Amino acid sequence: MIVAADEREPREPKYYAVKRHLLDLIGSLPPGSLVPTERVLTVELGTSRTTVRQALSELVGEGRLVRRQGSGTYVAEGKISWPLQMTSFTEQAAAAGYSATTRLLDAGRRRAGDEVAVRLGLRTGAPVYLVERLRLVDGAAMAVETSHLSAARFPGLMTRLRKATSLYRVLEEAYGVTPVSAEETIETAAASPREAALLDTDTGAPMLVLSRHSFDADGQPVEWVRSWYRGDRYTFVARLAAP
Ligand code: GLP
Repeated sequence: MIVAADEREPREPKYYAVKRHLLDLIGSLPPGSLVPTERVLTVELGTSRTTVRQALSELVGEGRLVRRQGSGTYVAEGKISWPLQMTSFTEQAAAAGYSATTRLLDAGRRRAGDEVAVRLGLRTGAPVYLVERLRLVDGAAMAVETSHLSAARFPGLMTRLRKATSLYRVLEEAYGVTPVSAEETIETAAASPREAALLDTDTGAPMLVLSRHSFDADGQPVEWVRSWYRGDRYTFVARLAAP
């Protein structure tokens, strides 16, 4: 039976009591353990199937449980810790002991819209490259990344990127440009059908969206990038120091 929350607390939705119960269960089981089915939980906890389903869905969205089609629901593995640093995806993966690969999804020349133009220090309508890539670690899709760079500053970038994994390596080796500082923001978003398909998750699943605006040593903007990560898989770690 599920224990009701302290009565002085705001009224707890029924599904949340089921969720607390499941969190206790998850805490007592090793990753990869099968959890009871919706039907079993409904009977065991004396509640409705809709209530149990809501609790399970939230735990899946939070990365505590994983659903395997036609097999069941399991306790998830721990999340991957991903440091927030002024490095490239490829370098970061290597530092964490993973191997990074890249699938080029889309690449081409576009006219800069207002926001991209401001970010890259260009006039609206100036030619920019748009590069959309799927980033993988050890073969598992991790993020979808959309980068904008000035086409005038990086001639021939598209051809070079078709053969390379790392954008930063290309920038350094072919153009002598190194991003040395950036402003990065993190927001939540729900996965679009396309992102969900690319990242092997459900439409509407919670995502973490990182936007990076990076600069070279002279303070010139280098790239404007948005990266969509699966929110149930990754923990971003920033090391903070007193100023
Ligand atoms: C990270 C950053 C991106 C940057 C990318 C470069 O993912 N969030 O802003 O473009 O690294 O990585 P790589 O050199 O592996 O292409």
